[in-house]
Amino acid sequence: MLISFEGIDGCGKTTQIMLLRERLEKEHFPVEVLREPGGTSISEMIRGLLLNPEIEMDSVTELLLFSAARSELISSKVKPLLKRNIIVILDRYYDSTVAYQGFGRGCLPIAQIHSINAIASHGLIPNLTFYLDIDLKQAADRRKNQVNDRMEASGAAFYQRVIDGFRFLATKEKRFKQIEAWHSPEEVHRNIWDVTKKNLGKKRTV
Ligand code: TYD
Repeated sequence: MLISFEGIDGCGKTTQIMLLRERLEKEHFPVEVLREPGGTSISEMIRGLLLNPEIEMDSVTELLLFSAARSELISSKVKPLLKRNIIVILDRYYDSTVAYQGFGRGCLPIAQIHSINAIASHGLIPNLTFYLDIDLKQAADRRKNQVNDRMEASGAAFYQRVIDGFRFLATKEKRFKQIEAWHSPEEVHRNIWDVTKKNLGKKRTV
């Protein structure tokens, strides 16, 4: 089973992924958490390029680098784990590319981004995608004292388009579960666990 988490920076993904992992382990499910971009040595090197605030790059280059990091992670780590029936939780997946590079940067038509995503993901679709929805102001309050990486330095209008992108996907994709993320971490976790529980055990073929 593949579960992805999505949302803008500051939405509380990291906390919720940790809580879900702990819960699954408590119920004796084998689980592995991986992050995008990253998770393999090649993908971590690409991550270094993508988040470095001193590097400028063309937005199509950015899209292809996220995609290259993804291809490596999926083929070398995620698919083998799923074959062993390990639950994989992904901290971001290709929906981030639609929201950030598609809606945020407007670098290519969304249909072309979907095609690139299909290639970079090796056709692997998540069983469930939790989208943690917060608005711009709530995200800014949570991130007040943090230093911006290259993506986070893209400005408020950019982030509003990213939110619009995620909300659009939530209306289109059945696997998307939009979770109101401004509630307490415990309440958000309860919602996530309720949905996960119902989907555990549904067979997937890789
Ligand atoms: P990260 O520090 O992991 O942010 P977060 O903790 O919020 O997930 O950095 C990943 C950044 O890369 C984040 O700003 C979102 C962005 N991103 C894209 O723009 N496109 C993508 O396809 C992915 C996977 C991430």
